[in-house]
Amino acid sequence: MTADGAVAPTTRIPVGGPAPYQVLVGRDLLDELPALLDGATRVAVIHPPTLPDRALACRDALAARGFETICLEVPDGEDAKTVAVAQSCWAALGRAGFTRSDAIVGLGGGTTTDLAGWVAACWLRGVRVAQLPTTVVGMVDAAIGGKTGVNTERGKNLVGSFHQPVGVLCDLTALATLPETEYRGGLGEVVKHGFIADPGTLELIEADPAGAVRAGNPIERELIERSVRVKAAVVSADPTERGRREILNYGHTLGHAIERAEGYRWRHGAAVSVGMVYAAAVARRLGRLDDATADRHRALLSALGLPVSYRAGAFDELLADMRVDKKARGHRLRLVLLDGLARPVTVADPDPAVLAEAYSEVAS
Ligand code: GLY
Repeated sequence: MTADGAVAPTTRIPVGGPAPYQVLVGRDLLDELPALLDGATRVAVIHPPTLPDRALACRDALAARGFETICLEVPDGEDAKTVAVAQSCWAALGRAGFTRSDAIVGLGGGTTTDLAGWVAACWLRGVRVAQLPTTVVGMVDAAIGGKTGVNTERGKNLVGSFHQPVGVLCDLTALATLPETEYRGGLGEVVKHGFIADPGTLELIEADPAGAVRAGNPIERELIERSVRVKAAVVSADPTERGRREILNYGHTLGHAIERAEGYRWRHGAAVSVGMVYAAAVARRLGRLDDATADRHRALLSALGLPVSYRAGAFDELLADMRVDKKARGHRLRLVLLDGLARPVTVADPDPAVLAEAYSEVAS
């Protein structure tokens, strides 16, 4: 709503690169979907069991425009991101006779959109996918930029491909029913974008962190839009992560290792929260980051109720995992650090002693 009670118009944020598209932020955006899928006969809506009503609404909206639409329910959370689940989707597409001109819709959180994107990327070597993220992390991160894939027992997102969506519809009404822990976790990614590129986001949250964690809060839309703009700008400049895009992995190297150590029971944003506090500690010890900015990580993330520490004694196990992170090259560990607020850099092979000492700042 705008200040005078009118419905705010939909915001359209362009994403550049070889196949440009738009991220739409607004409310009740299903009317936008048919145009993205123009020319398709069949559409598969891939969704988790928690969103039956949204999936049916999506199916009905598409059926009303003449698309033969099927709904494919996949497991919730990281359980969706397996080759076996992707295979079950391809089997369904085969039974329904999906051709090159048909399309996929990914409706759900980041795990669903990652899976749906990869199902689309591989089917007939690539059909269109429209992403309808329903979580904060999906809207500001996962659904934008074309990273698709699944996990293996060795780690997250180790199998996948870049497959850009034809459009991303961020319907803010979906956030109203999001579990609070999921909402909080998503704010971890919003904070990440703030530290790497948009400090104004941090100031907005700092003004009322307790308010910021409630769905539908007055700054929700601004936070989502600002965060989408950061992601869109980075992936437009580097769609396939040849360089600059690595900055989006701020906090993720340790974060992914924690997620794996926890068997993916931790929220992604919660693990990234610890990872950012750790990255700030490393940067401080390397003389790259001032105390105030490093301390700001812990203060802000704690105020949002996100974790800022992890098991003491887990460092060796986590370090071994960090070395096989996708950002690693050979045995060289690469960490995204800050050279100051909103000045991210990638550092190869930071001093191992510094890495261990910095862990003491997050060890609980
Ligand atoms: N989530 C990080 C990226 O899209 O590159």
